[in-house]
Amino acid sequence: MADLSVEVAGIRFRNPVLTAAGPPSQNGSALLAAARAGAGGLVAKTISVEPAKVPRPTMAALDRGMTDFSIYYALGGRIVRRTRTKMFTPRGLLNIELWSDLPYQRWLDVEYKVAKSSGLPLIASVGYTADDLRFLGPKVQEAGVDGIEFSLHYVGIDYKPLLEIAKALRESVDVPIFAKLSPHILGLTEFAKELERIGVDGIVAVNSLGPTLMIDIETGRPLLGGKMGEGWLSGPAIKPLALRVVAEVAKNTSLPVIGVGGVTSGADAIEFFMAGASAVEICTGAILEGPGIYGRVAREIGEWLDEHGYDSVEDVRGMALKYLPEDYQYEVRNPGVDPDLCTACGLCEEVCRYDAIKVVEVDGRKTASVNQYACYGCGLCTTVCPTRAVRFVD
Ligand SMILES: Cc1cc2nc3c(=O)[nH]c(=O)nc-3n(C[C@H](O)[C@H](O)[C@H](O)COP(=O)(O)O)c2cc1C
Repeated sequence: MADLSVEVAGIRFRNPVLTAAGPPSQNGSALLAAARAGAGGLVAKTISVEPAKVPRPTMAALDRGMTDFSIYYALGGRIVRRTRTKMFTPRGLLNIELWSDLPYQRWLDVEYKVAKSSGLPLIASVGYTADDLRFLGPKVQEAGVDGIEFSLHYVGIDYKPLLEIAKALRESVDVPIFAKLSPHILGLTEFAKELERIGVDGIVAVNSLGPTLMIDIETGRPLLGGKMGEGWLSGPAIKPLALRVVAEVAKNTSLPVIGVGGVTSGADAIEFFMAGASAVEICTGAILEGPGIYGRVAREIGEWLDEHGYDSVEDVRGMALKYLPEDYQYEVRNPGVDPDLCTACGLCEEVCRYDAIKVVEVDGRKTASVNQYACYGCGLCTTVCPTRAVRFVD
């Protein structure tokens, strides 16, 4: 059985699946529920000097309805299929929840204590200006939290002024501090290096993306109640963005990184570890599925590590970084088809805009087949194939 425990900036978590700031961490009892449901550590909702006045409606799902879906993955040359049925799986959410609508004193007096009664490490989240952090940092530390995440949302995209915010918190507290990056920040590599120099202990990447807008076409009104109807996008739709930020920070600094953005399965978490993350946080997944997601994702990470012969998260951490080239690649490679794995479902043929892959009959059996002369090597078919029968072979 793989060891799921991880250490991030000196804080040891029983597993690498943490809560993220948002509704599933909105108060002490929500955090306690996450702990009971299997989270490895707790990150609380962001607090600020003034409680937020949260506009309503606050959240909207990108998609409606229920779906059946299967997950396929390769295991020792075999294809394993796991089916989940009737699970609501929107690609993401828009939200305008801002920060906590509870006064900070309430968190200091009550909510952090309730969360700490779980026995798990607790990371507070604070925002937003340098003055806010100088004021709140020492109070939050005094409340006995194990670390402090500071949110760089709502404070601009130019990184230079943000360094003053990081410095203000660093000078105010001794516990590990984590900079939570928004995906919009310009000059990411330089920023991350500067944060490392200032003495920030870790990076959390990323916050939600936006601002964004959704309109109900039956009424013509925005779905959310914020200024301009705007909200921030989270969930599976932003996972590739989060992964890239994690990889860029991991490649260019030695800071530990916590990945957040679209994690809903053990496989998602493994992808973040391969990009260099030491742990993941989950927000949208926990809103849609409830706190049970933390234990489920941790279990799935353990199963995946066991099935692939790894002993710990550390064994796969950063594995993808060596494959991320500094320059564009122009070498054309065409995929092949493993007829033993092909189910002749035709998805590859459907998406091929080069008419290069077709389901054909070979020896009385249907299988996809690639015309190597027509194939552009675009790779799309390899990513839609549900059984990995269509793939690049090194
Ligand atoms: C409803 C909602 C409220 C959120 N509130 C906060 C917050 O108070 N502070 C913060 O740093 N991030 C907040 N976030 C961002 C999440 O913590 C997370 O960074 C982002 O949603 C991406 O992760 P996910 O795809 O797992 O949701 C919130 C997200 C949602 C959906």
